[in-house]
Amino acid sequence: SITRRFAFHVRYQNVTRLCSTKVVPTVNGQVPGPTMYMREGDRVLVKVNNELHDKNITIHWHGLKQVRTGWADGPGYVTQCPMKPGTSYTYNFTVSGQRGTLWWHGHNNWMRYTVYGAIVILPKKGDRYPFPKPYAQIPLVLGEWWKASMDAVLQQLRQTGGGPNISDAYTINGQPGDLYPCSATERIVIPVKSGKTYMLRIAGATMNGEMFLSVAGHKLTVVEVDASYTKPVEMDYVLITPGQSMNVLLKADQPVGTYYLAVRPYIAPNINLDNTTATAVIAYEGSNHAATPAFPTLPAINDSVSANALSRKMRSLASEAFPARVPLQIDRHLFFTLGLAIRPCANCTLGGRLSGVFNNISLELPKTALLQAHYFRKPNVFVTNFPDNPTSAFNYTGRPPNNTMAKSGTRLSFLPFNSSVQLVLQSTAMVAPENHPIHLHGTNFFVVGMGLGNYNASSDPSSFNLLDPPERNTIGVPMGGWVALRLQANNPGVWFMHCHLEFHTSVGLATAFVVEDGPNPEDKLIPPPSDLPPC
Ligand code: C2O
Repeated sequence: SITRRFAFHVRYQNVTRLCSTKVVPTVNGQVPGPTMYMREGDRVLVKVNNELHDKNITIHWHGLKQVRTGWADGPGYVTQCPMKPGTSYTYNFTVSGQRGTLWWHGHNNWMRYTVYGAIVILPKKGDRYPFPKPYAQIPLVLGEWWKASMDAVLQQLRQTGGGPNISDAYTINGQPGDLYPCSATERIVIPVKSGKTYMLRIAGATMNGEMFLSVAGHKLTVVEVDASYTKPVEMDYVLITPGQSMNVLLKADQPVGTYYLAVRPYIAPNINLDNTTATAVIAYEGSNHAATPAFPTLPAINDSVSANALSRKMRSLASEAFPARVPLQIDRHLFFTLGLAIRPCANCTLGGRLSGVFNNISLELPKTALLQAHYFRKPNVFVTNFPDNPTSAFNYTGRPPNNTMAKSGTRLSFLPFNSSVQLVLQSTAMVAPENHPIHLHGTNFFVVGMGLGNYNASSDPSSFNLLDPPERNTIGVPMGGWVALRLQANNPGVWFMHCHLEFHTSVGLATAFVVEDGPNPEDKLIPPPSDLPPC
């Protein structure tokens, strides 16, 4: 393992998409920003320079287990205060026990609108993949593009109290593909050779869209999710929510020609109906690149059964070399409901404001960072009495309960070092039933169970998979259903958990876990670096 150094210059740049140009924050002038290559075991130093004159920034290394290095995790006001214009901060962490595809993104306000990119973690030198080595690897980052500025989208949110305007296009490596109005030249072409197998490294960096992805005529074999190997699963399409990533093998075994790789959203129910499709072109060597590519079959936009199918089939590899260390004894049982609530608002045009809640509590971020408050024992920043269970019982998926119960606060859950936790996330029908991709920072969890309707604590655990459940950092909680997660809280720090739909994060569908230091020196959070941005 080596030390890898990266320099990120966050600066404004003109970018043209769909025949319209706007100035946006970029990293090193690119949207998406640079793909970072590293190996398991490497130490990584990223010097981020905020060269925007008017905006703060933080960067999050999404899905990287920040073992004892919470200071490098990145969510604004959680592990650090944002970098002010003209300042810099060096993120310093070590890639431990992970290989696969992850991604990085801005993590304050809506900065990941244009500030994002892929992370490719190769196995240690000499280590092999648990599948035949692919001929080539292709990072594909799914994103979203608005012709309007980020400020305009945020302004509209504030004024109405409702959801954001839908984006003008979905993108693949920053390009919408040729099916949007005025996008004929904005497409990427992926050249392939007959008979070879390619690894598509796909990262879900969309803002609010959960995406079905399919390639005309070809099967997709999923071999890794969220930088954790899986038993191979062959699919006609996959679903990638914001926050999820996966490695998929594609064998070029079809007649020489051109084939669309297409992504289109899954939205349940049909609110903000957006049937638009971003595309890239898989072009065989010897094919006519100008020919119209074959188009794949994608599930319908509201097809929840297909949306949940991949999650249900997913199993971790659980081999001798890559064991699944699922906690079997549970110290702490947590049950969190989640959804949206409507809260009164005096000056928004809809007369009420959507707000996201876990156990009826909407997270309010402090003016300082939670991790600093924890480390320096600064009082009056947060309390650790987040309820382990909903404070009042109701039929979670039935008639909407009384939403005036929703409160905001900075209440976190406290976890003793190395405690084993089972967390059941129950989706509710408080306002709109939707799929919520819930993301946990700092560590991964095992998805031991999943179901529709109300979770039943006496009968559902008997069907849990404790042998080879998938290990992930982001899981879609099915509309009106539940997931059961298990994790070992052995990484000291303050770890954000939130819905990765950017709109939901921004209205408080978030909370955090405080994991206390362990008894030994190697179980303690390292001291904060000297250049940590001041609050
Ligand atoms: Cu990607 Cu908090 O995140």
